[in-house]
Amino acid sequence: MKNAQVKQNTGKSGEMISVEDFLEDVAYQKMKKLLHEKVGLDFNGYREEYLKRRFSIRLRATGTNTYRLYVRYLQKNPDEYNRVIDNLVINYTTFFRDKDVYGYLEKIVLPRLFRSNKVRIWSAGCATGEEPYSLSILVHKVLGKKRANYDVKILASDIDENALGKAAKAEYSRKQLNGMRDSLIAEYFSTNGESYQVKDFVKQLVSFESHDLMKPSLRKGFDLILCRNVMIFFSRESQQKIHMHFYNTLREGGYLVIGKAEVLSGQLSQQLLCDNVNCRVYQKSFKDGYNRSPSELSVTNGYTLNLNNSSGGQCLVAH
Ligand SMILES: C[S@@+](CC[C@H](N)C(=O)[O-])C[C@H]1O[C@@H](n2cnc3c(N)ncnc32)[C@H](O)[C@@H]1O
Repeated sequence: MKNAQVKQNTGKSGEMISVEDFLEDVAYQKMKKLLHEKVGLDFNGYREEYLKRRFSIRLRATGTNTYRLYVRYLQKNPDEYNRVIDNLVINYTTFFRDKDVYGYLEKIVLPRLFRSNKVRIWSAGCATGEEPYSLSILVHKVLGKKRANYDVKILASDIDENALGKAAKAEYSRKQLNGMRDSLIAEYFSTNGESYQVKDFVKQLVSFESHDLMKPSLRKGFDLILCRNVMIFFSRESQQKIHMHFYNTLREGGYLVIGKAEVLSGQLSQQLLCDNVNCRVYQKSFKDGYNRSPSELSVTNGYTLNLNNSSGGQCLVAH
């Protein structure tokens, strides 16, 4: 029986697979169902190759090596649920990840947003907090003494409660601040022996919430959304769904920033204007079709407007 072949109609080609593979697939689906029931994470939107690569690490680490044995292992060892989730959601992040992107936010995007004195920002998939705190530091740098005249809030969300716990603690090692100038560190962090604590006035702008990006957005009317280096986990279909949530959540004229290795999917690539192709900054158009005032169309702070970029939209290019 072990080497027997069963005809398994895959819906496309009706290819033949072995009994072994069939049983493994049944166990794999069962494992995903168990994880959904126990930890509420719906894997249906995640990329299969990504999931299988990450699960195989746990299969090897537990010595089970097959999904059938791993399902039994999970049922007997409830601690494993957390381990497998930790292994799936990769939290790698840094302060000011991609300096050119933060430079563009500081010089171009934030000054535009601060024409209004109420600004709402969302860091979606914020991991351990470096991204929202970098944004808060930028807000303070851009506004300086005028900060008290502005109502600025940064919502930071992630699915990983562990990461959110670390983010709320706001404590980092010197190594985690690598790449930041000493003067910036002195201004925005206090030191306590080996650890560096984000100062209260920086923390005050940021609130953390647990949120699964596969679910509808938390609020509406954001001026700026950063969702960077998160889409790698998701299938193309889910990426489109998530990007559409962002589109609906942005106010007209609001900005979406995605990761430098990511692309906007589907319909949205038509609906959002590319503002800076290198930094992956997009803008939701105004209903009247005009996106910027004449002053914004001129050369600003070392950036010029390029009307002929590859995505067909207007594009500001750093020089
Ligand atoms: C690589 S980190 C990116 C951190 C930060 N945005 C950056 O660019 O440095 C990816 C984050 O996405 C989060 N994530 C994965 N799936 C998610 C989901 N369904 N909903 C919300 N966050 C998710 C992970 O927990 C992880 O913290």
